[in-house]
Formats: sequence, structure tokens, C-alpha cells
Amino acid sequence: MKEYLKVITLTIIKYFFITVSLWFLFVLFYTIFSDIPTFLHLASNINNLSTYELEQYVKHSKIIANETNAYFIVFLISLLFVVVSHILLLKKKGLTYSQYIKFKLLPHFFGFFKKIEKENSSKKINKYLFDKIYKIKNGEIIFYNPAGIDYEKYNKEKDNLEHYLNLTIYKIDKIFPNKVAIKYKDPLEKFTFTRELFKKDMVYFGRGFNSGDIYIHLKDLTHYLIVGQSGSGKSVFQNLLINNILFNLEQVEKLFLVDLKAGVEFTQYQKIDKNKIEVISDISQLLPLTRNLIEIMENRYKTMIEQDIKNWNGKPILIFIDEYASIKDQAQNLEKNENKELNNNIRTLLAKARASGIKFFIATQKATSDSIDTTVRENLQTKILLRTVSKDAQRAVLGGKEVIEELGVDPAKFDKGRYIFFGDTIQDLVQAPFIPDDFYKIFLKGQSNGK
Ligand SMILES: Nc1ncnc2c1ncn2[C@@H]1O[C@H](COP(=O)(O)OP(=O)(O)OP(=O)(O)O)[C@@H](O)[C@H]1O
Ligand SMILES: [Mg+2]
Repeated sequence: MKEYLKVITLTIIKYFFITVSLWFLFVLFYTIFSDIPTFLHLASNINNLSTYELEQYVKHSKIIANETNAYFIVFLISLLFVVVSHILLLKKKGLTYSQYIKFKLLPHFFGFFKKIEKENSSKKINKYLFDKIYKIKNGEIIFYNPAGIDYEKYNKEKDNLEHYLNLTIYKIDKIFPNKVAIKYKDPLEKFTFTRELFKKDMVYFGRGFNSGDIYIHLKDLTHYLIVGQSGSGKSVFQNLLINNILFNLEQVEKLFLVDLKAGVEFTQYQKIDKNKIEVISDISQLLPLTRNLIEIMENRYKTMIEQDIKNWNGKPILIFIDEYASIKDQAQNLEKNENKELNNNIRTLLAKARASGIKFFIATQKATSDSIDTTVRENLQTKILLRTVSKDAQRAVLGGKEVIEELGVDPAKFDKGRYIFFGDTIQDLVQAPFIPDDFYKIFLKGQSNGK
């Protein structure tokens, strides 16, 4: 709201001074054109002037010397105000003046013209119409060309444009056949998680560009692969999901948190409910866990066959594994047959456990086959891709480039918590909120926290 008022004030100032400068420019020219001819005429006869004419001569020379100077100075000062308010307005729109100038030059610089051929009775007339800035809105610049926009060219030149303009382009949208919008401002702002975002039986995943707030019902959870390089926000994102699960802990049978790397990130959660939450920080505990889970899975399948149901309708068991690659590293310390069993168990669970209500969240820095088995990776149907520079790694997660191209984003440039959600029903660019490490403490003071 305040920003809005600032923009209005600046706009008023700008147009006020445009008016003032134009007015003084007019007065200046008026003076010059009305006084100078008289003055020159009198000056040419300076030796033969009457007293009255001499007075006139002095008067006009004063006007020319003083008033025109004054008008000119007022004109320059108003112009300065116009330029300053214009620059400030641009700043509010997220642009620097040099970027603005470049935007103006952009169609010429990149040759974004559209060639139209008019069949004119006998002759063919080739006409080149350049794209022009139509409007600068908050965060987007719209280009217009009456003959039509070469939309493909903008997309092709996207990298060059970013380099030339020194800004990140989030999206290039075709608005009409003759308009294109370059969105240069982050469409999703960073934010912090608050309790109000909790929902009964739901897990909150963040804010999607097309989907708004993304909630997934505990029963609709699948397996998730969370990929992103160091510092991209994997741990914070898992903490977000875990806190949402803690909020709904009554609806969950068990929550296993596996972190072999540091082993400290998850331990805090154990105090909340020692019966339901189990933290695994050592590889020796992981094999028994997988055995246990396979047993539960088989028992659940037996029950399901007896009841003739296809999907487990009881409470889910959820397993988070942070730094999946560290399993492979540490498994080398196990006996050979144990290592093999562990790998087989994980593969079996990921291939079969989902329908029995056992769901995995697996996070890794790299998704290439040296860090995670391709079969394991393929069984994690929903992919979460946080900042990842390597194109190979991006491809390993998302298969082809289509999603990235469709969303018009670059995962190499993602800010913290930004990711591509690639699931069966949702495919979107998402911002996960920041959630402090100690957020879970609200669950320690009994279950009195509101909804
Ligand atoms: N959604 C977010 N919004 C704002 N800041 C965030 C967000 N997610 C993470 N951060 C910031 O980035 C830092 C690193 O995040 P995080 O520890 O989750 O990265 P990571 O991917 O787990 O890294 P590593 O692979 O090294 O464990 C956090 O300490 C936090 O300050
Ligand atoms: Mg981490």
C-alpha cells in the first residue's frame, strides 16, 4: 500500500514537472521569437535611435539577457526533476536506468523486427516495423509490434537478453500475436512459514506459480525425490514437510527420519513422541529398519488381500532419508551380504511399498546414477528439483527438458527454497517457505496448538 502511494506521488511529480518544463520551454521560445527580432532591428540602427527607442532597446536586451536565462534555468531544473522522478519510478519497477535504455534499444540491438509483406497490386512492398516498448508494468515489459511479434526469437535470445540486460528473465509470455511480455521480476516471493498454514490431514509443500498454495493429503502422498545442490534448501524443505506431519501426527502410524551424514538435523524431533518418531543416524540401524518395513508391508498386503482393497486405508508410515548418497558410502562398512541385502530391501520397498501406505522422501545433492540407483530414482514418482547447475543432473531428475522449457525457468539460478514440482497431477514452479530449525518446539508444549 505504501509502495503504491510512493508510485502515485512520483508519477504526479513526474507529470507536474513535464508540464512545468514544457511551459517554460514555450515561454522561452516565445520570448526569443518576440523580443529578439525587435532587439536586432533596434541594434542595427543603434546610432540613430530616439530616446524612446533607446529605452526599448535597453528593455529588450534586459529581457533577452535575464528573463530568457531564468526561463532556461527553470526549464533545466524541471527537466532534472522529470529525469529523477522517472529514474525513481523505474527503480520501483525493478529496473535501472541503463537497463531501461537497453530495453529501448533492445529491438534494434537484437533485430526483433517483423517483416511484413504487403501485396500491393503490382509491387511487393517490404516494410520493417520494429518492436517497441508498449508498457512497463511492475516486473514486466511488454513489447508491441503492429505487424506481429517474432515470439520465437525472444525465446531463442533469452540467454543473450539476460546477459545484455544483466537481469534474470523468469518468463517470456506471448500476450497477443503482436505483444510479448518479458517478466523480469521474481513471480514468487520468499516467505516464512507460519502456523496458520497448517491444515488438518494435509502436508504443505509451498506456493506454486500456477497452483497457489500446494497441499497434499496424507493419504495421497507418494514417494518423493528431493534434489538440489548444497545450500539449495533441501534440509529446510524436509523440515517443512516434517513439521506438517508433526501437526498431523495423530493420523500417522510412524515417522522414520534417516540422516547418516551429520545425524543431528533430525534428532531434535524424537522428543516430540518417542513412540512414533524414530531417528536413524547409523548405517547399522538402517538394515533392521528396512527388514522391519518389509515385514510391515507384507502384513499390510495380506490384510489388503483379505479385505479386497487395492490401497492401504490405514495410517501411513513415512520415511525421510536426507543425504541418500551417504547410505552408499557407509554401506561399504557393512558385511558384503548385509550391504547387498540393504540395497535389495531399499529397492523392494521403493518398488512395492507405496500402495501399502509406506512412503519415502529421499533427498540427495546429485541425482545422477553414481549417487542413486536408476531403479530407485525411477520409483520415486514425484520429483522435487531445487537449485541444480548441472544439466545432466537436471535431466536425471526430470527426464527431458520439456518441463523446464514449459515453465521457462532455469534451475541453475534458483534461489533458496525454489523448486520444480514434477508430479503426476502437479507440474509447477514452487517457492517453499523458510522454516526455522526450532519450529518443532511448538509441538513440545502438549498438543494445545490451534488449527
Ligand atoms: N525456503 C527457504 N527460504 C529462505 N531461505 C532458505 C530456504 N531454504 C533454505 N534457506 C537458507 O539456506 C540455508 C541452507 O539450506 P539447507 O540447509 O536446507 O540446504 P541443503 O540443500 O540441505 O544443503 P546441504 O546439501 O549442504 O545439506 C538455510 O540455512 C537457510 O538459511
Ligand atoms: Mg541438508
